[in-house]
Amino acid sequence: MKRIILSGGFSMGALLLAFAVSGDFRVPEDEFRGWNHVKSMVIFDKRHPLYDPFWGIHHVYVNDRGLRTIKKEGRRKFPDGTVVAIVFYKHRSVDGNTAYVEGAKRLVAFMVKDSSKYRETNGWGYYAYDSKGKSLVKDMARDCHSCHSQVRERDFVFSVWTR
Ligand code: HEC
Repeated sequence: MKRIILSGGFSMGALLLAFAVSGDFRVPEDEFRGWNHVKSMVIFDKRHPLYDPFWGIHHVYVNDRGLRTIKKEGRRKFPDGTVVAIVFYKHRSVDGNTAYVEGAKRLVAFMVKDSSKYRETNGWGYYAYDSKGKSLVKDMARDCHSCHSQVRERDFVFSVWTR
């Protein structure tokens, strides 16, 4: 990239990087719930390794762009434009403690594939918001990608179509 040195010693490259890191990406719930449902999970016991912070009910959705790839077994590579959404709700017991249903929304998170924009995290942008819409990601690499790197061969996406 051509580097333009601004007064004060800032380079344009550093400035663009700062925007990329503090950027914003969100899809309204009405929209992603119309995508392709991949899987759901209910984590209700503190002994589960994902209990903190994944407790409650969560659902995973993928847009049409990533559908074919998420159905692949084994090694896979998602095309640019893929978005995967995960939404977390509290679990609320009903019917005399015999069933759980979705309670209040807790969190929503997105993975966005753009291999040139997110080069440092293997092509994935990571975004997460609390129930009030406040961003929860300060550093994509440290806060998100480090853990998702456990499933590098699945192109950093844990969820699979069949379990
Ligand atoms: C401690 C490990 C860990 C960290 C840290 C983590 N995740 Fe995940 N994430 C997971 C696991 C495990 C799943 C799959 C859950 C399931 O199987 O239902 C997942 C699922 C997801 C999904 C659905 C796609 C997929 O990979 O299955 C998205 C989107 C997501 N995480 C975004 C994020 C974002 C954004 C961050 C940073 C704020 C983040 N994750 C941090 C472990 C982690």
